[in-house]
Amino acid sequence: MREKRDIIIMETPEALAERGASVFVERARASVAARGIFMVALSGGSTPRRMHRLLGRESLCSEIFWRRTHIFWGDERCVPAESRDSNYGLARKDFLMNVDIPVDHIHPMPADVEPERGASLYEDEIPEILDLIFLGLGKDGHTASLFPGQSALEEKRKRVLAVKGGDPDVYRLTMTFPLINRAREVVFLVSGEEKAGIVKTVLEEPDTKQPAGSVKPVNGRLTWILDKDAASRLSEEVAYG
Ligand code: 6PG
Repeated sequence: MREKRDIIIMETPEALAERGASVFVERARASVAARGIFMVALSGGSTPRRMHRLLGRESLCSEIFWRRTHIFWGDERCVPAESRDSNYGLARKDFLMNVDIPVDHIHPMPADVEPERGASLYEDEIPEILDLIFLGLGKDGHTASLFPGQSALEEKRKRVLAVKGGDPDVYRLTMTFPLINRAREVVFLVSGEEKAGIVKTVLEEPDTKQPAGSVKPVNGRLTWILDKDAASRLSEEVAYG
């Protein structure tokens, strides 16, 4: 049986960011109403930045219970927060500095210690079940920092690992599939023509070996938010079926 997943196709990258931000706001509201807390993990890379900047704008920002919100990351490069390669550093600049979130509700991955120790520390800090995890998709099919051919793809027990690879090719900390697939909802944000081929592979090949194809929330929702360019090679049936 094919896993339950929703595919939402937006006209432009701007519309994709707006849709992602509205999912953030809706899930925050529902999580706080249901459990009094909203625990969300951000993805890195460039795609989510437009959405992050929207979350820092007054119009949306005021709709979120920031004092009930906890921010985590799906992966992080082991670089200083000031580096332009820091997922935390970029999110801090794009919106976290502008919202009324308690500083101890922001949980950056410990990128400034020995990677294995950083992974162990984050394993102790991150909750078992997150309300929402945002993910991106690399052209090689990676997601978070789970790269093709790496042993991290096979991890069944640990929830955070130290790996090396990607672009930039540095040490990184990453959530593993056991943690990702426990989330209440996982949302991929994918934009651009350059991703159309890998999007088709991941969404249309049922037994794809691409890392992103292993994102199958056990009890949660899986939502793909694509812009038209990223969705341009999908079959009609998959895109709108
Ligand atoms: C990372 C990201 C990574 C990213 C994809 C897509 O830290 O590198 O988490 O998984 O989401 O590589 O990146 P772009 O959005 O920049 O294409």
